[in-house]
Amino acid sequence: MSALCGTGMGIGVPAAGGFTCSVCKIKVKPNGKGVWCTKRRVSLSIRAASSNRTVVEYETGKDERARFAGDDTLSKLVNLIISVKPIYSLLKLGAKNVMVRTAEQNGIAWKEMVEEMKASDVFAEKENLENAAVVYPDYYTKPFHAYENGNLSWEAAFDVEPATRALWKRTLPSAKSWQEAGDMVRGKWVEAIQAHHCKFSSGLLVSDILELGCSTANSTRFLANYYNNAQVTGLDLSPYFLSVAQYLEKRDPACTESRRKSIRFVHGNAESTNLPSKSFDIVTVAFLLHECPRDASRNILKEAYRLLRPGGTIAITDQSPKSKVIQELPPALFTLMKTTEPWLDEYYLLDLESELVNCGFTHIRSILTSPRHFTCTATAAM
Ligand SMILES: C[S@@+](CC[C@H](N)C(=O)[O-])C[C@H]1O[C@@H](n2cnc3c(N)ncnc32)[C@H](O)[C@@H]1O
Repeated sequence: MSALCGTGMGIGVPAAGGFTCSVCKIKVKPNGKGVWCTKRRVSLSIRAASSNRTVVEYETGKDERARFAGDDTLSKLVNLIISVKPIYSLLKLGAKNVMVRTAEQNGIAWKEMVEEMKASDVFAEKENLENAAVVYPDYYTKPFHAYENGNLSWEAAFDVEPATRALWKRTLPSAKSWQEAGDMVRGKWVEAIQAHHCKFSSGLLVSDILELGCSTANSTRFLANYYNNAQVTGLDLSPYFLSVAQYLEKRDPACTESRRKSIRFVHGNAESTNLPSKSFDIVTVAFLLHECPRDASRNILKEAYRLLRPGGTIAITDQSPKSKVIQELPPALFTLMKTTEPWLDEYYLLDLESELVNCGFTHIRSILTSPRHFTCTATAAM
């Protein structure tokens, strides 16, 4: 007989009084609360996809954080350059062109993908998803990512998929394809969540997962495939992004009826979601905080704490200030990056660990889960 531990990653290896999880080394008992699950198929395939890479350790740089972000002289110089309107406009256009060109060189048919979305019936999704009562915070209605209306436009929403694929390929240039790169990075991310939850949640079963800032639901779908017995909620402020998410979910040939039912999308603000307290076992915050001013990030972490059940896990993944690759980015590239990311300085100065402690989180752990990104996990107090 073999089995998986309560969080679904490993296979039970027989041991005295029960089994030991082959991945997180936690001892599980046949009759213990939530220790058996039936996630074998999905978890094994994900493990297989990432198993020969789990040994990879990514390098940190020599500085505390990248010098182009925060309050260093270099950072101020970059900010001065991009504060000149005509230079800013040129750089902004340049940044988008560079992104599209490199993506197409890597086999990502950016323009074709956008045209396909324009011709689709994605537009109908917005009516069902949009919550007219949502109030957008000021920072969200400003130009952002080279789009005049920030994330509140179809133009931005249609670019998300090709831009995300390009990001994965840039993150792991040695991967054979963007798919392989994406699976490896998300595989490491979910492994970090899994191992943390397994170790610190005292057997809290993973039934409800929330992704704050889910965008077009790439990570949401990955979570739903992995924790295939859980209900997964993706929340975002952009009804345009959520429409694309819902449309892609319906159209995905790999999406079974049960998976479709296990994902729901909510249009809302991650700072104040109106979702019930203590209603989730895992809350993920993936690539959201670098897009937020510091106060919004603080509110999001507090809200995640409120939403987690005791023993639940928060997982934040984002650009790592300590990453060697990020610290050594050529000046021209990081200047381009800053023209499209207005909150990078505040993000790089955020002391995430202290913020988590202030919210009440314990067992805070952080590791690099790609050459550029960290995953920080922590537990809501019991
Ligand atoms: C880079 S994307 C996240 C990507 C996604 N989590 C993934 O892993 O593929 C950042 C998202 O956060 C959303 N966002 C920004 N501020 C938000 C807020 N206060 N509440 C909810 N969503 C927010 C944006 O609309 C955008 O979709």
